[in-house]
Amino acid sequence: MGPIIEAKELVKIYDKEVRAVDGIDFSIEEGEVFGFLGPNGAGKSTTISMITTLLTPTAGTITVAGMDAVKDANKVRHLMGLVPQELTADDELSGRENMMLQADLYNVPKDVAKKRIDELLRLMNLEEAADRKVDTYSGGMRKRLELAEGLIHRPRILFLDEPTLGLDIQTREVIWRHIRNLKEENQMTVFLTTHYLEEADSLCDRIAIIDEGKIKVMGTPDELKASLGGDVISVELRDDVDLTEDFSAISNVKSVQRDGSSYRIKSEKGDEVMEDLLGMAVEKGWKLKAIALHRPSLNQVFLQYTGKSLRDEQQSGSMNKHAARKAAIQNKRRR
Ligand SMILES: Nc1ncnc2c1ncn2[C@@H]1O[C@H](COP(=O)(O)OP(=O)(O)OP(=O)(O)O)[C@@H](O)[C@H]1O
Ligand SMILES: [Mg+2]
Repeated sequence: MGPIIEAKELVKIYDKEVRAVDGIDFSIEEGEVFGFLGPNGAGKSTTISMITTLLTPTAGTITVAGMDAVKDANKVRHLMGLVPQELTADDELSGRENMMLQADLYNVPKDVAKKRIDELLRLMNLEEAADRKVDTYSGGMRKRLELAEGLIHRPRILFLDEPTLGLDIQTREVIWRHIRNLKEENQMTVFLTTHYLEEADSLCDRIAIIDEGKIKVMGTPDELKASLGGDVISVELRDDVDLTEDFSAISNVKSVQRDGSSYRIKSEKGDEVMEDLLGMAVEKGWKLKAIALHRPSLNQVFLQYTGKSLRDEQQSGSMNKHAARKAAIQNKRRR
């Protein structure tokens, strides 16, 4: 079986000059959690809009489950659920009413919809608030409602555009748990975008770092970190003895630097080297004063490939929030 999503030389140019997506290629296997990580304006939402058939690519192709996302847009759309970046639930309706509306959009039969809505509201811990107007919901409750809406037609692929933007740590962790469950229990493919490095690191099987419309690097979180030259183990001995040769002989060690009784050992498999080294220390009676494993963080990876740090990124898009929200609601009604 081929990949569930495949993009080839995908391009989106807005207004004849803004190259929002500038020739990207990727493929995603069924059941994968795939993350698009990048700063504001990188092209993340634009890519999602093209895959979910809301926008037509300027050039390139997208295949979803073997079908062309432009020619077979209607069939493709039914395989996918989308939780957009901007909140789209109608404030004046209750959570349950919003869900019914969504079920209707996807032609889910009423009796089936009723059952699923109960189930999803329970799953997202929204049972008690289900019949209250959405304008009484907190930010976290709204996001959970959007997530429930995206699942109403049991999609094979779920798109989450900034699922935890602006939420506090506890609520983010609740959402992460839901995402992991969807993957594990339903083998759902999840495509998510995020600004948060820890989020990408902890949730994604693979990550693409995108900046200025181009994919800078792609791989598992561990591969990306290893691409920076791997881990460093720092060792400090009680005595000033030379163990350079012993350390160098440990498998997977790339280099050993000595400075008196301090050593820096480089390896792409720091955890294995650390284990071997500790075993040998006991066996050979080496007197260790301190030992520590330093792994490159995803933040360093990001810095390396984009020249930017995400730490200081402002977290809202450049578009006026209110206008974006209105546009999103209209867009949804039109569908
Ligand atoms: N409808 C539009 N018309 C013109 N330009 C647009 C439109 N939508 C997005 N852009 C531009 O395309 C580029 C990519 O935007 P996009 O929304 O895809 O980025 P993003 O990675 O999702 O950013 P964010 O992190 O802020 O959500 C930006 O330069 C943006 O200003
Ligand atoms: Mg976006």
